[in-house]
Amino acid sequence: MEFGKLMSERRSIRAYRKDAVDKKDVESIIAAAQQAPSWKNSQTGRYYAVMSKDNVDHIREHCLPEFNRKNTADAPVYIITAFEKGIAGFDNDKNAVNELGDKWGAYDLGLQNENMILKARELGLGTLIMGIRDEKALRTKLNIPDTQEVVAVIALGYRNIEPSAPARKSIENIVKFY
Ligand SMILES: Cc1cc2nc3c(=O)[nH]c(=O)nc-3n(C[C@H](O)[C@H](O)[C@H](O)COP(=O)(O)O)c2cc1C
Repeated sequence: MEFGKLMSERRSIRAYRKDAVDKKDVESIIAAAQQAPSWKNSQTGRYYAVMSKDNVDHIREHCLPEFNRKNTADAPVYIITAFEKGIAGFDNDKNAVNELGDKWGAYDLGLQNENMILKARELGLGTLIMGIRDEKALRTKLNIPDTQEVVAVIALGYRNIEPSAPARKSIENIVKFY
């Protein structure tokens, strides 16, 4: 799909069909994440792809608030995204290189996540990034170590809705040219 079309047609999807997603598609979405740039090519993003019905139901019921549970009611896959702390933004002696510290890990993960949701769209799949989730419940269920920061949960599946695009701020409101 042409890049401009891909960008403009991607939407946050809040209604899914029950149809299963092929594991190969999930793998190519994770592979797309790996194409993103990262701090010193440190590639600190980590992914937990939840696909079995029991585990998907558990994540939905125990790790998401009511509204995100409802909006992803029939999504067949959740991808929990995390990153290894203390690497991106840090030097070899484990000192933060500047004031942002581990925020660089979150920055890198965001770049990777954008690749993922665009790749999903190219494959005909919908996604919803969810920042409102229960980090402790996710950590416990998926055995996510303390060395990693848990960030977004991304729902994945075939869309059951064609949402219109939410308005964007105008360019003049977000940029200053010098
Ligand atoms: C970091 C982040 C966290 C988000 N968290 C949620 C969420 O918890 N629940 C939800 O319904 N949407 C969530 N969204 C989706 C945004 O609301 C959505 O991207 C925005 O309204 C623009 O719509 P669009 O994605 O269709 O362009 C999140 C998006 C981002 C990038």
